[in-house]
Amino acid sequence: MTMIAPNPYLSGNYAPIPDEVTITDLETVGAVPDALTGRYLRTGPNPMAAPHEPHHWFLGDGMIHGIELRGGKATGYRNRWVRTDAIARALGETPVGGPAQPMFDSSNTNIVEFNGQILSLTEGCYPYIMSKELATLKRFDGGTLPRGMTAHPKIDPRRNELVGFSYGYVAPFLYFHTVDAQGTVTKTEPIDIERPVSMHDFAMTENYVLFFDQPYVFDLEAAKTQGFPFRWAPEFGARVGVMPRAGTNADVKWFESDTCYTFHPMNAFETADGKIVVDVPKVTNLGGEMAPTTDRGSLERWTMDLAGGTLTADVVDPCGQEFCRINETLLGTEHRYGYTISAFNDGPMPYDSTTIFKHDFTSRTRTDHNFGAHRHPGEFVFVGDPDRAGAEDGGWMMGLVTNEAENRTDLVILDAQNFGGDPVATVKLPRRVPYGFHGNWVAD
Ligand SMILES: [Fe+2]
Repeated sequence: MTMIAPNPYLSGNYAPIPDEVTITDLETVGAVPDALTGRYLRTGPNPMAAPHEPHHWFLGDGMIHGIELRGGKATGYRNRWVRTDAIARALGETPVGGPAQPMFDSSNTNIVEFNGQILSLTEGCYPYIMSKELATLKRFDGGTLPRGMTAHPKIDPRRNELVGFSYGYVAPFLYFHTVDAQGTVTKTEPIDIERPVSMHDFAMTENYVLFFDQPYVFDLEAAKTQGFPFRWAPEFGARVGVMPRAGTNADVKWFESDTCYTFHPMNAFETADGKIVVDVPKVTNLGGEMAPTTDRGSLERWTMDLAGGTLTADVVDPCGQEFCRINETLLGTEHRYGYTISAFNDGPMPYDSTTIFKHDFTSRTRTDHNFGAHRHPGEFVFVGDPDRAGAEDGGWMMGLVTNEAENRTDLVILDAQNFGGDPVATVKLPRRVPYGFHGNWVAD
């Protein structure tokens, strides 16, 4: 008899929850800062029906979890599936309509606010516009977007512009685009790369964008064994393309890097002497089958010399880490602090660890916050404190922490300037939130 191992993405706290709830009575330890009025929203895969095997985590139907903070209290939790066409039909609701989705539409990866609209995103698809109460309102296509967009658009804090890209299986394999505050696509530029690759994220400076052409290549055969149509193909090497935001495909300069994959670059910026710096969490092997990686990874600072054409890599931290965030009012300019979660150090899955990191790139030191045994953090996002706006780390770090022993989840708020200290507040949700991807604070 052949034993079939349980799918890791349908087990433990990766397993989906079966329902949508609204809870208004939440226990909180500590005090929610009065300045926090709004919602922490976090999304992730939560397959509604038993998925076809082999099921891959990246493909589960998106569910958004929202925790409302107001008047120094946590005033409510709710969770809702994003009404993709498939979910709307499964629930007997009318699909919201809009342009046909160019790729598999799970809407499970990220949730961001742009120009007062809350966008639920998954790569390669058109976003859904969500209400604060997590109702799915409509599909967004920006009018002329040729093919969906990344789940990781950058909202330029200085220009109120959404900067993004999309990749696809047919040439051109990559497009760069920008969207203005009115939701109008203002630029679409096809970028030449040699083969279709999974490009999860990118980076942006004030004047440049960076594309990561790394060898996680499109391969339909791979879907048969891992449920996801991409294969790690190190023979193709890796490179970073740097393009002026005002430029074209002809202006892209390519820099060879180590063969690796970088899911979420932390941030990029320009130096006074004409170099581009980007901090990247790096894995050198994406593995295959069901485990996301077989490599512990590291955090590196890459410096690209636009004149000399060279890329130099400097190891900032030899530990594996992911879900990089900064104070995003600095996006595209030099940051001193960066925040990550420890990943792949304690096991093959991203949420095996109990620790998050704060990096100080000036002193080259790291502060850890360890939540303790059986408490596993997801991505933590920086939220600025208006009373400390002069300090880059003047604010809070906010994220979900799974309490494995109690089979439920906390929303934890740390003071970013007292990162290793006790939390400012811990909102104890009475249920668990499955491990997911990205979250953001949406202030009222
Ligand atoms: Fe992501």
